[in-house]
Amino acid sequence: MPRFPAGFAWGVATAAYQIEGAVREDGRGDSIWDTFCRKPGAIRDGHTGDIAADHYHRWPEDVALMSRLGISAYRFSIAWPRVQPPGSGPANGRGLDFYDRLTDALLASGITPVPTLFHWDLPQPLEDTGGWLARDTAYRFAEYAALAAGRLADRIPLWITLNEPIVVMAYGYALGIHAPGRALMMGALPAAHHLLLGHGLACAALRSAGARQVGITNNYSPAWPASDSPPDVAAAAAYDILHNRLFTDPVLLGAYPGLSAFGAGDGPDCARDGDLALISAPVDALGVNYYAPTRLSAPADSPLPFQTEPVPGYPVTAFGWPVVPAGLTEMLLRLRERYGRGLPPVWITENGCSADDRPAADGAVDDQPRISYLDGHVRALHEAVAAGVDVRGYLVWSLTDNFEWAEGYHQRFGLVHVDFETQRRTPKASFGWYADLIAGQRRGTGPDIR
Ligand code: FCB
Repeated sequence: MPRFPAGFAWGVATAAYQIEGAVREDGRGDSIWDTFCRKPGAIRDGHTGDIAADHYHRWPEDVALMSRLGISAYRFSIAWPRVQPPGSGPANGRGLDFYDRLTDALLASGITPVPTLFHWDLPQPLEDTGGWLARDTAYRFAEYAALAAGRLADRIPLWITLNEPIVVMAYGYALGIHAPGRALMMGALPAAHHLLLGHGLACAALRSAGARQVGITNNYSPAWPASDSPPDVAAAAAYDILHNRLFTDPVLLGAYPGLSAFGAGDGPDCARDGDLALISAPVDALGVNYYAPTRLSAPADSPLPFQTEPVPGYPVTAFGWPVVPAGLTEMLLRLRERYGRGLPPVWITENGCSADDRPAADGAVDDQPRISYLDGHVRALHEAVAAGVDVRGYLVWSLTDNFEWAEGYHQRFGLVHVDFETQRRTPKASFGWYADLIAGQRRGTGPDIR
């Protein structure tokens, strides 16, 4: 049975806009997601995060569920528009109070809080002045980081600056399928640089405010060429640069990967002297979100140097994502090979799957596909750990069903089912499975996984 090292953290992850709701309470301002959700056709069936899983009111119940699971770490995100509604200026105390109470309740339950400062909910006023395309947003982000850490850093050991900046740049600014809905294609590259600069400045601000450990989370996906043909291999290499290296090389190596396939040479034009030194300040953790590999071919007719292809031969999740646990091992080994001693301790900050979860007549939700997904990925993770990759924790996405961005409430990722009409929470079979796994690891007997 796979046995993880003593002290390995088991947990769950969530994000503010996806669970909190209460978008107009206690002085919260609008985020770009509030605006985007009101845009006709942007979100499937016009869903919004206005209520979401009502976590803003039901957090004690959610912390109790975490306690029942037996987790030791909880990654949540702090909503910038609650803490600093205009995106600049002083803190909104009532916004910080919410995270203060949550932090204390987690600690009282023996759960380490791991907040992410930016999980996509940029204050709308900052988007109105250019969003991440504007250099100033990076400075505003550091200011907000200082406000959050000023209140919470005495109790929080590990902070994550950004969640998946590749998705912010690609979906939000290049393709326009996420907020703020800009479709600039490679014109989105300045957003990448300003996100990275924001990370670097926020790291410094967090440390000055007393944060002990700081990291950044990205989405990683092994880039598989669709064939051995040189054009397909080149397409996969280009995707790898964009998806896996653009936001990691600058942080861990202090340099951009070659971006000539994207017409950008050595890096974004907007980079200034000294920026990379700020961006590459040492981090204590690399957050890895892993869901699936990506298969690429040379484009027939596209402004991008690759096109994505289906990954045949594997089961798929409700989202249609291929289930490839070995991709997690592959990615972790690749990261270690790529960054060597420069790779900080890794945290799997998200891993999980959506499934077509429907309560049976007795209310039970028997989500066997999720159990099998998680079981496979925990084993794949163990292989990487056994091969010597320093991984400190594994956080399942997600605790409860929630607002899945452009898919609205159509994709359910939770260990806990949420009836969005009544907000009733029902632990699924995977909840029990994960609780048993954690208890088994604590007893040192190894988990009962298949
Ligand atoms: C990741 C996001 C997270 C969630 C999962 C399914 O890209 O970080 O918020 O939506 O995908």
